[in-house]
Amino acid sequence: MFWLKLLFGTGTGDLGPAKQKTPELERKIRASFDASSSDEEHFPSTIDPRIFHVQLILRHFGDLGQGRVLDNGSGKGRFARVIQERNPEARVTAMDISEAMLSFAPPGLGRVSATMTSLPFATGVFDAAYATESLEHAVEIDKAIAEMCRVVKPGGRIAIIDKNAEHWGRFKTPEWERWFNRKEVERMLGTHCREVSSQLISYWEDVEPDGLFLAWLAVK
Ligand SMILES: C[S@@+](CC[C@H](N)C(=O)[O-])C[C@H]1O[C@@H](n2cnc3c(N)ncnc32)[C@H](O)[C@@H]1O
Repeated sequence: MFWLKLLFGTGTGDLGPAKQKTPELERKIRASFDASSSDEEHFPSTIDPRIFHVQLILRHFGDLGQGRVLDNGSGKGRFARVIQERNPEARVTAMDISEAMLSFAPPGLGRVSATMTSLPFATGVFDAAYATESLEHAVEIDKAIAEMCRVVKPGGRIAIIDKNAEHWGRFKTPEWERWFNRKEVERMLGTHCREVSSQLISYWEDVEPDGLFLAWLAVK
C-alpha cells in the first residue's frame, strides 16, 4: 500500500506527494473563482464578527496598532473588513488570485492580485498574515506556506484556517482542492516559525467542534 500512497496520496484529501501547479491549472482556478464571485451565497463579502474563526485570528494578532496585515487568498475580503474595523490604524492588504473577487473588497483596504505561491511582497514586511479557506486551493501547499512565512517579520503572527483531511468527501470539491492533516501543516509552519499550535474549531466558541475546521496559529 505504501507505494500506492506515494503515487496517489492517501485518498483522504491530505497533502500526499508535492503537487505542481501548471500555468493552465492556475488559469482554470482563477477563472473558476472569477465566475464564482457573483455567487454571494457561497462566497459572501461579509462575515459575522462574532464567528469564532474571526475571533481566533483577532485574538492571536492582538492589537495591531499601525502594523501591516496580509489576508492571503482574501476572496471578497470579509475577514479583512473586520480586521480593519477593529484595527483602524493598521494597513490591511487583501490579496487574491481573482480580481473579480477582489473587486468586492471594501474601500480602504489595499488590494493586490497575485498567487499565494509567489507573493509580490518583500521579505518581512508584514506584522501578521492569515489564510482562511484559501490554502486548500494553493496546490503547491509547501510553497504557499513558505511564502506566507517569508513576508512576515520575525516575531510576526500567522494564522491558517482550513478544512480537516479526516472529513474529506463531506462536500463536492474541485479537482485541485486539498484538505489538511493537522501535523503536516504544523510541520510545514514549523520549518519557518518558532511557535506553532493547532486546534479544531467550530463557528461558535461555545459549540463543540465537529472536526471539519482546523486552525493553525504560529509566531515567526
Ligand atoms: C473559499 S474562498 C475563501 C476566501 C476568503 N479567504 C474567505 O474566507 O472569505 C478561496 C479564495 O482563494 C483564492 N485563491 C485560490 N487560489 C489562490 C492562489 N493560488 N493565490 C491566491 N488566492 C487564491 C480564490 O480566488 C478565492 O477567493
